[in-house]
Amino acid sequence: MPEYETHDFDVIVIGAGGAGLRAAIEANAKGLRTALVCKSLLGKAHTVMAEGGVAAALGNVYPEDNWEVHFRDTMRGGKMLNNWRMAQLHAQEAPDRVRELEEWGALFDRTKDGLILQRDFGGHRYARLAHVGDRTGLEMIRTLQQKAVADGVEVFMEVKVLRLLRDADGVVSGAVGYWRPSGEFVAFTAKSVVLATGGIGRSWMYTTNSWESTGDGVAMALWAGADAIEMECVQFHPTGMVWPMSVRGLLVTEAVRGDGGVLRNSDGERFMFDYIPEMFAAETADSEAEGDRWYDDHANNRRPPELLPRDEVARSINSEVKAGRGSPHGGVFLDIASRLSAEDIRRRLPSMYHQFKELAGVDITAEAMEVGPTCHYANGGVRVDADSTATTAPGLFAAGELAGGLHGSNRLGGNSLSDLIVFGRRAGIGAAEFAEGRTGRVTVDEGEIASAIEAALAPFERDGGESPYDVHHDLQTTMQSLVGIIRTGSELEEAMGKIEALEERAANVSASGGHQYNPGWNLATDLPSMLTVSRCVAQGALNRRESRGGHTRQDFPRPDPEMGSVNFVQGIPTSTTDTSGAGGTPSVRSITITPVPLPVMPDELKALMELKEAY
Ligand code: FUM
Repeated sequence: MPEYETHDFDVIVIGAGGAGLRAAIEANAKGLRTALVCKSLLGKAHTVMAEGGVAAALGNVYPEDNWEVHFRDTMRGGKMLNNWRMAQLHAQEAPDRVRELEEWGALFDRTKDGLILQRDFGGHRYARLAHVGDRTGLEMIRTLQQKAVADGVEVFMEVKVLRLLRDADGVVSGAVGYWRPSGEFVAFTAKSVVLATGGIGRSWMYTTNSWESTGDGVAMALWAGADAIEMECVQFHPTGMVWPMSVRGLLVTEAVRGDGGVLRNSDGERFMFDYIPEMFAAETADSEAEGDRWYDDHANNRRPPELLPRDEVARSINSEVKAGRGSPHGGVFLDIASRLSAEDIRRRLPSMYHQFKELAGVDITAEAMEVGPTCHYANGGVRVDADSTATTAPGLFAAGELAGGLHGSNRLGGNSLSDLIVFGRRAGIGAAEFAEGRTGRVTVDEGEIASAIEAALAPFERDGGESPYDVHHDLQTTMQSLVGIIRTGSELEEAMGKIEALEERAANVSASGGHQYNPGWNLATDLPSMLTVSRCVAQGALNRRESRGGHTRQDFPRPDPEMGSVNFVQGIPTSTTDTSGAGGTPSVRSITITPVPLPVMPDELKALMELKEAY
């Protein structure tokens, strides 16, 4: 077996987006020796793809905003599949976490009175998103990274983590991986581990996610005995670039619509008026005004229908394209040019201006953008305790996109950045407390390290195996065409079979060349995670025989109250000895699924839901 270096810490945090950074800052502040381990360079995380803002009921633009309204909007947006306690903590704590970012140096846009400016986003009752132009995630990462490094968190960049490690009692006690630049192996031991590896989007063809988002955290948690929930609820952001093909899927921030942008079809119609949910339909015609159009949301609040929640907007765009009213490259038109001055567009949406100019040769101050849905976010993920973020595997904590529960079946835009800082901090506290309570020397099973390393190196030993790129391409095609925005039982069955076949192929891929920065080999070691999470999504989607939020079944087009009262919980029995999956992991066939009743919401929170105000 090749040699490997070892490091020992009190807490290790895997993943250095907003949640991982925030968790590491907190654990480190408690005086614990804390390491932050990430797959790419520090500062490069999907967090930057939440561009338009961080949702927090600061009440700077609408003083009547408060945590209760934010809580209600989040639950309604998630179609009540959310973990109510997470939604409550999130809404209550987000304002303090945003103000804390400001204290740490984040430079938010300002109101005339010098307060943090807040903008409109879909599904939020009030303008609620604190922002920095359309670069909010970037500013957040910059601020947290500076704080973490200045505070003394030890950073291990460009380490691909392969597996979590457990002690003889099954307590998560570390992780093993390899340095991408050298290909050399490294093992960490720790009293507790926080997973914050983000999303799963690279299993789809068109996605806002970059190469890191391969679902490593969810898969490693399952392999270590933790559960996942609501994996079927994948968010397709309504607006990604559709052209040129090389950048298809790249995010076009919701801030464009939040700042007044409108969607039009090939006939020039603002088609979203045709998709306003029944509950608002009667008010729409009455509130139509000269020169502009709105619908009334039953609270005398005029809302452009482009700011309906993302699931509704994405499905509507999909329907227009299917009906033959799409744009030349298979999307629809997003027009900000006729709504804001060129100067305002360049000031408020600088990234969008440059993105379209550089990549598509489109000047968005003069022309409409072509946009369409793109895989953006995992609403489900690792099942956690709301207060501590503890998973069902002892010693393991999870926060950020890879954790499930907060968003239910559909996340509101801007709630991801607030999720990261609220639950990142809580994960840091939870992991620190667990570490403090753990006495004695932490040990790990060296056999587990050896088998992970052998499995990782196996592609170099195989002559004539398949290319990992071919397997990845076929997985993306499968997920895009069979587990996309609109799903049917027969297609999901087909996807399940295809994923099993892909698993067999992934177990036989080859890699050639050296170990240093070898992208083919790196991809081969990502495939086991991608297959595991893809299977979870397809299996969850097959079992959820209803349409709810981001999960739409053509064969079950309506919500079903019975299905809406359960979470689908997935896991791999800890007793399994199966290593027949790709990379020596348990086969995707060993993933189980069980409906589990939703936690019961207390009466005082239920009362908030009954307020007769719309989302
Ligand atoms: O559209 C956006 O700026 C994305 C935000 C989010 O996903 O929260």
